[in-house]
Amino acid sequence: MGKKGREIVEYDIQKLIERLNSAYADEWLAVYYYTVGAQLATGMKAGLVAGKLRELAKEELEHQEELAERILQLGGEPIRSIDELVEKANCRRVDIPEDPRDLKGLVEAVAEAERCAIDVYNGMLKDLMSVGKDPITFHTIRHIMGEEVHHEEEMENLLGL
Ligand SMILES: [Fe+2]
Ligand SMILES: [Fe+2]
Repeated sequence: MGKKGREIVEYDIQKLIERLNSAYADEWLAVYYYTVGAQLATGMKAGLVAGKLRELAKEELEHQEELAERILQLGGEPIRSIDELVEKANCRRVDIPEDPRDLKGLVEAVAEAERCAIDVYNGMLKDLMSVGKDPITFHTIRHIMGEEVHHEEEMENLLGL
């Protein structure tokens, strides 16, 4: 990022990069868990649930791209190692049920992961509004959070099946 682009960020840039990297890790883990969840899903409504999880995974993949782009703009680097990815994540696991036919359990676990993501992004937005300011990151996070809110709703709707 250029001089002026950096100057307008009224926030501790290193701290911001760390927080963005933790969210970046969350997004990768979501891609992984949702994909495995879709692969394992078995039973009458498995196709429907798996299709939805794959759709979500695709959007989480876009989120990690958006976060990586901002991390790089700020002069940071996205996390390089899988171990560090797991270690730095805020939402470390999605409890995929033992029984692959437990679709409700699967959907509930994904809804929980979405709630965790919403909390993380909400916290970042609040800090970006009060502690410091960075309109570009704010916009990126707000956009992503809007999609997470939609994801939670979609999972809750699936629970009603
Ligand atoms: Fe996401
Ligand atoms: Fe999501």
